[in-house]
Amino acid sequence: MTLWGGRFINESDELFKKFNKSLSFDYVLAKEDITASIAWSKALMKSKILSKEEQICIESALLVLLDEAKKNTQNILKSDCEDIHSWVEANLINKIGKLGKKLHTGRSRNDQITTDLKLWCRKKIYILLDNIIELQKYFILNAESNHNIIMPGYTHLQRAQPITFSYWCLAYVEMLRRDFSRLKDVLKRLNKSPLGSGALSGTAWKINRQELALSMGFDSATNNALDAVSDRDYVVELLSSASISMMHLSRFSEDLIFFNSGEANFIELSDSITSGSSLMPQKKNPDALELIRAKCGRVYGSLTAILTVLKSLPLSYNKDMQEDKEYLFDAIKTWNDSLSIAILVLKNIKVKYKSCRKSAEKGYSNATEIADYLVKKGVTFREAHNISGQLVLQAITEKKSLNDLELSTFKKYSNLIEDDIYKNITLEACLEKRLSQGGVAPCQVYKEILKAKRRLNIF
Ligand code: ARG
Repeated sequence: MTLWGGRFINESDELFKKFNKSLSFDYVLAKEDITASIAWSKALMKSKILSKEEQICIESALLVLLDEAKKNTQNILKSDCEDIHSWVEANLINKIGKLGKKLHTGRSRNDQITTDLKLWCRKKIYILLDNIIELQKYFILNAESNHNIIMPGYTHLQRAQPITFSYWCLAYVEMLRRDFSRLKDVLKRLNKSPLGSGALSGTAWKINRQELALSMGFDSATNNALDAVSDRDYVVELLSSASISMMHLSRFSEDLIFFNSGEANFIELSDSITSGSSLMPQKKNPDALELIRAKCGRVYGSLTAILTVLKSLPLSYNKDMQEDKEYLFDAIKTWNDSLSIAILVLKNIKVKYKSCRKSAEKGYSNATEIADYLVKKGVTFREAHNISGQLVLQAITEKKSLNDLELSTFKKYSNLIEDDIYKNITLEACLEKRLSQGGVAPCQVYKEILKAKRRLNIF
């Protein structure tokens, strides 16, 4: 049964019916549709369109329907209703007869769908916010337990300067903090109720939209009905946040895939998130991380698809907008799943102290220290850089690290170099000198860990 049969003489084509139908995916909005319908029934009662008894009867039937919907999704999917709004209304009428036909007074599926979708997004945002916090916690716990592990930091995937594993963890905490605040921003702009906007120009009934908005936990009602039913900015904003956060998770994955490789050998991933090869018995593949890396593309795809659907759409509602849901639902699930898998990865990660340190000792990552040493002795940085570069070349020729060069060799390049050069270029010295705000110095990192723990209430 459709909601709009009156004006039609002939039946819809079966193929079109299938093409038009959104119930197979918008059934997930059953709870939101029923919540908003109950709120609407109360607003109708306040404006005397429904009596108190009628409202109570509608509300109880809707609650029973919600219970049934939760218990048996298959039942919803079997129905030939066009969408979730039609399904709720048809089933309400089935339960309470003619009275059910009053519920749609003054509203349209156009304000209904965007109200439902906003309620759904809000619910998911709360879950995502919690998950982002949880992932931060695991980064912080790892930062704490791997406090003294020195490893190389890279630029251009070349060993650049030494860092610590803790410091690497804290970089991701910062990224996740931004993801968190972006998501909160989405919530702020999203949380305005479109209900009572009707099809596009408002409702002709005396509905207190502000009160209705507050009753559903919105901050206020929207200002312009034409905009309210057209607006899907919140979907785009949510997917933009998802895309940025997935980009962070994919970089995290890539870092760990490299750290886990035979070449780097900095970490060992747990058996619980890796898989083997059907041919090569020795393999332990970082599948979980590779999948996160790839799923980032899937979320970008959803964002691009929705932006493209919305581009050039005339105001107000157009059926094109039905196409937002599958992408949105898929992207939010993917993001949430990826956050959970990242947590699982960090829960069981083993960092290899020795090979991290060994790798940091190679690659001349303390060359900057020689330059800084010379600057302290009055050489200009550009000159000092050049001398240090020549020393690297010398060390490469001798197949040695900088620390192993003879003092006499150092002196060949600069007379200002004394015996204290050695203690200035140890890995520890490289770290300890970087005391400025945001630097890698262990005491600085320790302070950041404490701050993060306080912020997240970890004791
Ligand atoms: N299934 C539709 C959607 O997802 C609901 C709104 C339908 N409104 C309409 N006027 N046909 O966008």
